[in-house]
Amino acid sequence: MTHRRTRFAHLGRPEPTLATPVNHPVERASTLLFDKSEDLYRSDLRGYGRHGSQVHDALKRLFVDLEGGATAQLYPSGVMACTQPVLSFVRPGDHVLLTDSAYGPTRFFCQTFLKQMGVETELYDPRIGAGIEALIRDNTAVVLLESPGSLTFEIQDIPAISAAARKRAAVTIVDNTWSAGLTCNPLALGADITTHSATKYFGGHGDLLYGGAICASEDHGSTLALTAKQLGVASSPDDAYQVLRGFRSVSARFAQQERTAEALARWLADRDEVRQVLHPALPSHPDHALWRRDFSGGACLFGAVLAPGPVVQVDRFIDALRLFGVGFSYGGFESLAIHCDPQLKRKFGEPFEGPLVRFACGLEHPDDLIADLEQAFAQYS
Ligand SMILES: Cc1ncc(COP(=O)(O)O)c(C=O)c1O
Repeated sequence: MTHRRTRFAHLGRPEPTLATPVNHPVERASTLLFDKSEDLYRSDLRGYGRHGSQVHDALKRLFVDLEGGATAQLYPSGVMACTQPVLSFVRPGDHVLLTDSAYGPTRFFCQTFLKQMGVETELYDPRIGAGIEALIRDNTAVVLLESPGSLTFEIQDIPAISAAARKRAAVTIVDNTWSAGLTCNPLALGADITTHSATKYFGGHGDLLYGGAICASEDHGSTLALTAKQLGVASSPDDAYQVLRGFRSVSARFAQQERTAEALARWLADRDEVRQVLHPALPSHPDHALWRRDFSGGACLFGAVLAPGPVVQVDRFIDALRLFGVGFSYGGFESLAIHCDPQLKRKFGEPFEGPLVRFACGLEHPDDLIADLEQAFAQYS
């Protein structure tokens, strides 16, 4: 099975015997029953529902395959997939380097929870590249990356940052949600761990929350598993099943959404109402060359800086959209649009010239989405 989409169709399925279901069935249980008392404490068996199920095992296998990792850890949300790996490697007195472009709740976790436990977080410029070396201290335990950055879409030099961190024994963790692991493989670029909000493409239908982390090494995988055990992390078998099911079709959905996003980004780039399009596949993107080097494609999500205008005008434009829902997240079947400025916090980089709007492309036809944008722009004045 050379091709990933072939593996996604076949991995983690039960061996057919007589009338076997195509996927492992959902086993809902907290209590697992044993017919012999002596088996209750066997270390080679699951003893309790929190220890997972066949569906969880199958899903881990698919996550491992996604990026060619050694192990995968499952979480009940994408945020947990971001926070738990950090928690696994920090101790009071440690230092964490966090990209300024990180997903807001990850930044919030670092600046509040980690701070309370005596761990210092230092923000760094996402475009720092090999310059990160100067920021790494003896007590730097973790370097957090996200590429492209949430909302602002900077591409990071994952190989340069990972190499610098490795020299000083700091663990690199990359939030790889945007690419779904399908168009970027940070583990192959030298990172230690990647994290995913599976809520997005793998869920694919805007109706569940889930997360996963993939480790390049067994050692890091064991550390994540221990923290998850210590903190009682567990996820519903129903949600795990939906994510597993999402893996079966994700390649086709992602490819279509990726094409739509690029078509919309190119169309928007020619509009008078748009000052800048933040999509790394466009040659006008400041990190286009880095993206070409490290990514094999795009994704469904990008941003557009509109011509300066008051907030009411931006809201009027977004409200006029008929096919784009107003709501957070991406990777689902439906397109979404949000005004980003109210949540945009940045220490580095120049402010944008106008309001920032983020578009998440769903499975609608790009011509219909473009027509929708065109009619909504009539309101942008
Ligand atoms: C880049 C990124 N990481 C993590 C998350 C968190 O995922 P979840 O909503 O599954 O908790 C999100 C959600 O929007 C995200 O965009």
